Amino acid sequence: MKAIELKQLLKQMTISEKIGQLQQLTADFFTSGASEITGPVKEANLSPEMIYQAGSILGVSDKEKVRAIQAEYLAKNRLKIPLLFMADVIHGYKEIFPIPLAMAATWNPELVRQTAEFAAKESYVNGLHVTFSPMVDLVRDPRWGRVMEYNGEDPYLNSRMARAYVQGYQGDQNDLRQPNTIAATVKHFAAYGAVEAGREYNTVDLSRWQLFENYLTGYQAAIDAGAKLVMTSFNIFEGIPVTANEYVLRTVLRDKLGFKGTVISDWDAVEEIINHGTASTGSAAAEQALRAGVDIEMMSFNYNKFLEALVDKGILSVSLIDEAVLQILTLKNELGIFEDPFRGLDATLTEQDQVNGTKLALTAAKESLVLVENKQKALPLDERKSVIVLGSLANTGELLGGWSWHGQPQETESIIAALDHAKIKYRFVDDQNHTALNHLDEISGDSILLFLGEPASQTGEATSKTDLRLTSTQRRLLSLAASSGKKVISIIMSGRPLIDSEIYEKSNAVLLAWYGGSEVAQAICTTIFGKNNPSGKLPMSVPRNVGQIPIYYNHYSTGRPETSPDEKDKYVSKYLDSSNQPRYPFGFGLSYSNFEYGIPKLSSAVLTKTKSIELMVDVTNTSLQSGVETVQLYIHALVGETVRPVKQLINFKRIMLESHETRRVIFTISETDLRYVHSNLQSKSDLGDFEYFIGSDSNVNKKGNFELRDVE
Ligand code: NOJ
Repeated sequence: MKAIELKQLLKQMTISEKIGQLQQLTADFFTSGASEITGPVKEANLSPEMIYQAGSILGVSDKEKVRAIQAEYLAKNRLKIPLLFMADVIHGYKEIFPIPLAMAATWNPELVRQTAEFAAKESYVNGLHVTFSPMVDLVRDPRWGRVMEYNGEDPYLNSRMARAYVQGYQGDQNDLRQPNTIAATVKHFAAYGAVEAGREYNTVDLSRWQLFENYLTGYQAAIDAGAKLVMTSFNIFEGIPVTANEYVLRTVLRDKLGFKGTVISDWDAVEEIINHGTASTGSAAAEQALRAGVDIEMMSFNYNKFLEALVDKGILSVSLIDEAVLQILTLKNELGIFEDPFRGLDATLTEQDQVNGTKLALTAAKESLVLVENKQKALPLDERKSVIVLGSLANTGELLGGWSWHGQPQETESIIAALDHAKIKYRFVDDQNHTALNHLDEISGDSILLFLGEPASQTGEATSKTDLRLTSTQRRLLSLAASSGKKVISIIMSGRPLIDSEIYEKSNAVLLAWYGGSEVAQAICTTIFGKNNPSGKLPMSVPRNVGQIPIYYNHYSTGRPETSPDEKDKYVSKYLDSSNQPRYPFGFGLSYSNFEYGIPKLSSAVLTKTKSIELMVDVTNTSLQSGVETVQLYIHALVGETVRPVKQLINFKRIMLESHETRRVIFTISETDLRYVHSNLQSKSDLGDFEYFIGSDSNVNKKGNFELRDVE
């Protein structure tokens, strides 16, 4: 359809048909039948006529259902405007990839793009049009269970991943009429990651400067990559619920970030404006949300119930409703569903597609593993020697992670099965086998593989925690393993960094395996026995204790910075009972290879607005094993109009080095890399001096200086 035809369609719509387009419902509204209406369907009290005017549906789970619902809907919808199908495809549809936090640990945006592309293909053939991904809320607090869904603590890494997800979902041409594409929804706008004390659905109190400086970059990158939808967040901003916040949704999102697509509320978020306390009635909530610019109300019903009366009373103008309806019609048109309401449903995945998907899931799982401890080169193990396996997480297929909607835990290989597969000799000791646990030293094998962590059900939405230690059963296993005299290899499955010094101190090696998806068991086994060399790097700092939270590498200096870890002066910014440093810094991760960095060289120590410079460094793999290193470039502006982070990532490169190979890595530094948000919220660079740091993680020391001048 042409834009003009969409406008003509709009003209033919009654007010109630228009309001219907703004409503998003779940599948049960369409499949419950007339006989017994319960649950949300009953609560909503929508007339059957209204249900068949709803613009979109979320969470329908298979293609035959999609086909049936669409067919029935079109038969009953007067103007035959097809229904839009949306869902949370977060880290894969059926082929499950590592959780987003683990994908961020790959530091491989191209791999992220490929996994999103595969997820889009699977979603497309199942009739989905829109995914509620990527989530790009910047987070610095692992107490918040949703850290599993995001890309870590760094705005730059977050932006790179945000763009990769959108490109993967929406395809190379960014044309949703192409097969195997789905529309991306960037969420949760805005600053949901800053919830106080890491508590889900909690208050956010953030300055505009901080919002622009760190929190908007991920959303901006996704929008620049063409993301078609934005989901509002549950939190408040400057005292006003975001779902009712004109400043956030119009001034920032539309005017500053240039978003032109559809805005959808989060689940029930329009209704929750009443709980927040800035509206006392559903009518007021509907009015506030529409004025703020929310086009679709997800699973609450205030638009449906109150918008028409608000228009009749002259409180809202029809043009505001038309604006929202046109957004949704435009999205439907971009997806091509006016011409083909059954888009994708006749397509299938080939056997080769499935094979490729499994291969991709294995690659992603391997690359997401982060080795944070490897004392006296405890890993890799010799595959000819038998091992002892502890921890119930070794004996389950529940390894997929919190948003693995169609993933099949019962078909997912457990660690035990992967060990069998690889023909490793092992003895699995059940958590309840106290006799064996008390005599581990008597069981043959030099090494214990100890599987620890938190269940997948304790990560993701509504899983905030104040205690990020192991369970008491797991602590007991760890302590028995540590006192057995054998090598303890701890493998941690979790949706966030666990904060438990015992893990890191009592184990000889610690491998962070997150929730790694369909192929994680094989990925872990091949890594432990040296057939895969770990290359993941932490996308967020691992704190030493919960009291350090929020902790992030790109903090500001403060007026009284701690100048060294053994600072004697009391009156500096530090703790009396803990180091300021995290246990493992952002960007950190070990390899079985050793990488040495040469002395970096600059092509010139001066750059200008029009002339960039190059920074070169030689990296050598001094070990016998080929491996991947992620070379990270950080800068620090010595003076700024606003304070500048002590370090800030501006680029990185993953390189694969054969044994004893040296590779020159070249980064271009341009004026645009030096821009930052000033107190007037404008992003620009300042002339002046910069330090640079290049190395293996964010703890790297200063390597040199350069200068931004107006002339050479
Ligand atoms: C609530 C979550 O906050 C959001 O991320 C998700 O997309 C919606 N529910 C829909 O399931």
